[in-house]
Amino acid sequence: MSPDALKALVARAALAYVEPGEIIGVGTGSTVNCFIDALATVRDRIPGAVSSSVATTQRLRAIGVPVFDANEVETLSVYIDGADEIDPRGYMIKGGGAALTREKIVAAQARRFVCIADQSKWVSTLGRFPLPVEVIPMATQRLMRQFAALGGQARLRLKDGQPLVTDNGQHILDVHGLTIDDPLAFESMVNNWPGVVTVGVFAHQRAHVCLLGTPEGVRTIAFEG
Ligand code: 5RP
Repeated sequence: MSPDALKALVARAALAYVEPGEIIGVGTGSTVNCFIDALATVRDRIPGAVSSSVATTQRLRAIGVPVFDANEVETLSVYIDGADEIDPRGYMIKGGGAALTREKIVAAQARRFVCIADQSKWVSTLGRFPLPVEVIPMATQRLMRQFAALGGQARLRLKDGQPLVTDNGQHILDVHGLTIDDPLAFESMVNNWPGVVTVGVFAHQRAHVCLLGTPEGVRTIAFEG
């Protein structure tokens, strides 16, 4: 089965977590795009969604789902999003689509984080995927040196030869060569560095459930705690 077919499979499976009458949180990325396609078939069941990016907002509106500002909604029953890596504790690396800050904000509002991913995202230890970090541009060089001191090589993400600008008007560093053995401690440490907007380790906002696409079908992994 192709990666795209696996994404479509987990996207459809995620509909089971959409509770009728509840506003849901929706992530960003190609797997989430498949979820939004699937959501179109049941869009009348929910009053709307809180979105994690401009791109997702456009797609939700295109299928007729009202999009609420995060400040208008207190709690979301579920947040559905993809990941760049997910480990056996439900800790993730996210931000390959540069939407990590809003993703973490919406995830923090949800009672349950359902991660939808194809099996290529499953890892024993986080770090093979270059870690995205959203940064304030004036802090870029110092933050690169701080990551170098940890053994990482941070590169400024470019788009069309220019620094990529996020939905929040900031830049992204992609940090190669890290092995993140203690995601909770690592996330707390990097979040404390001046100039870091959001680090792409999702340990404090980890997944509660992962729907993993495999050639044998969808594997549902519930994380303890
Ligand atoms: C966007 C993300 C995505 O969830 C992550 O990059 C996975 O994307 P895809 O489903 O396209 O593989 O964190 O910021």
